[in-house]
Amino acid sequence: MTEIRATNVVWHHGHVDRAQRNDLLKQKGCTIWLTGLPSSGKSTIAFSLEHLLVQRGHLAYVLDGDNIRHGLNKNLGFSASDRAENIRRIGEVAKLFADCGVVTLTSFVSPYRADRDLVRELHRAGDLPFIEVFIDTPVGECEKRDPKGLYAKARAGEIKGFTGVDDPYEPPLSPEVTLKTAERSLEECVAQLANELAQRGLIKAL
Ligand code: ADX
Repeated sequence: MTEIRATNVVWHHGHVDRAQRNDLLKQKGCTIWLTGLPSSGKSTIAFSLEHLLVQRGHLAYVLDGDNIRHGLNKNLGFSASDRAENIRRIGEVAKLFADCGVVTLTSFVSPYRADRDLVRELHRAGDLPFIEVFIDTPVGECEKRDPKGLYAKARAGEIKGFTGVDDPYEPPLSPEVTLKTAERSLEECVAQLANELAQRGLIKAL
């Protein structure tokens, strides 16, 4: 649980509300939370979907694990508590983006159910749509892909606590969407997600 040290702070309401921002952008701000093992395809799917949505006139933006760890979260490692803080911060950032009206795509391993559930709860409390997407790729397939060579390093003992090798991954119990990337093409996965957004009225009909 995060210790609250910010005391004597009062929420300041602005003059523009969420509905006005959504009307301006002709979409509903939301968070699409992609979770899965390293090399499962999260970032590839997120950036392809971002591209498709922007081509169709929507404002979408990816918050990507590796990218965010170059800046905002560069002071966090991969212990369970650092991963929890990583996800907590990004949950809050995604919530701000969603409130802003952006279709926010997050691409984080986010291996722990409790951390993801906390982000879901943040969005529920803020009345913002939250869609959990399980990128369901078997670890053997992820390891075969290994574009960054990190599974190989973990197997060689050069990385300790690597998710899927010697650190746990807790799959979602009831995700809104499951994408099996070993059985479907990238285009099919992206189209499935885009359809889901349209069906939920978050973007215009495709
Ligand atoms: S999370 O577990 O805290 O959600 P995050 O998605 O931000 O992880 O970062 C994962 C990325 O960091 C992986 O894609 C991989 O490139 C890199 N990485 C480095 N060390 C580890 C590790 N021990 N476990 C998982 N990913 C790691």
